[in-house]
Amino acid sequence: MSANKDSDGGWRTFVWNSEKKEFLGRTGSSWLKIFLFYVIFYGCLAGIFIGTIQALLLTLSNYKPTYQDRVAPPGLSHTPRSEKSEIAYKVSDPASYKKYVDAVEQFLTKYDDARQTDQINFEDCGTLPMSYKDRGTIEKDLAQRKACRFSRTLLQSCSGESDPNYGFKDATPCIIVKLNRIFNFMPMAPIDNQSLPAPLQTKDLSNLIPIFCKNKRDEDESKIGPIKYFGLGEGFPLQYYPYYGKLLHPQYLQPLVAIKFTNLTLDTELRIECKVYGGNIGYSEKDRYQGRFDVKFTIAS
Ligand SMILES: *[C@@H]1O[C@H](CO)[C@@H](O)[C@H](O)[C@H]1NC(C)=O
Ligand SMILES: *[C@@H]1O[C@H](CO)[C@@H](O)[C@H](O)[C@H]1NC(C)=O
Repeated sequence: MSANKDSDGGWRTFVWNSEKKEFLGRTGSSWLKIFLFYVIFYGCLAGIFIGTIQALLLTLSNYKPTYQDRVAPPGLSHTPRSEKSEIAYKVSDPASYKKYVDAVEQFLTKYDDARQTDQINFEDCGTLPMSYKDRGTIEKDLAQRKACRFSRTLLQSCSGESDPNYGFKDATPCIIVKLNRIFNFMPMAPIDNQSLPAPLQTKDLSNLIPIFCKNKRDEDESKIGPIKYFGLGEGFPLQYYPYYGKLLHPQYLQPLVAIKFTNLTLDTELRIECKVYGGNIGYSEKDRYQGRFDVKFTIAS
């Protein structure tokens, strides 16, 4: 009987004990203390959290990446780029290669001479490959750096000036290649000429990262025809490096190389691999665009 009475009234008095003025077993001041304790406790946790993030942010600079140990070897990118790196079209059907021509045209507008007339942001850096252009360290000087001009005229018959179809119409397509920008990266010219493809071994490569394309499959050797390279020194000249980053080098232009395939065999699938050669440029099995790229041509007459 008494047990029944206890459990019956026990609940109600537990929720609100009017004798002792307790709510859920605690007085108002006890609840206030607990509330204050948790406010301070979580406040401190949030403080530690924000503090560590702020401390980390303080170590970052707007001007240079803090960590870039994983990006040193530059990727190569090319235009036109298409799915599966395949360039397939029909010479007799302009609509089939229009997308490639448009892609090259659009890419090269950045290199129009008219955009590089500004004397404050641009300068001429010579017509021959030269050594790195030192523009001072970021630690000492946060002024904007000048960019070397790179006129698309250097790409000769792939510049779009004499041939608005970039060779696609004549089955002699042009591909435009650039080395991806890496902050403060100094690509090194090839160190020894033993490992270079034969045609590069006799070339002066003291201030140049050369590029060379060849057939990927042995059976295509006689089918890919002669390949021409256009650009400053037919490679990537060192005076365009280093790159000072987006904020300090906003007008920076990467040097370009145009590759013209002058006598590809038609109606056949041809696989070609292009590689750049330099003292600190490596290749990777995992990344097919590190220091090289593949392209597949299928040009129908
Ligand atoms: C390799 O380079 C050296 C100088 O750098 C040159 O004397 C030599 O002729 C080159 N080798 C070949 C096969 O051209
Ligand atoms: C193009 O290559 C073919 C063989 O694939 C050859 O017969 C022809 O003479 C070459 N044309 C030129 C202009 O070199």
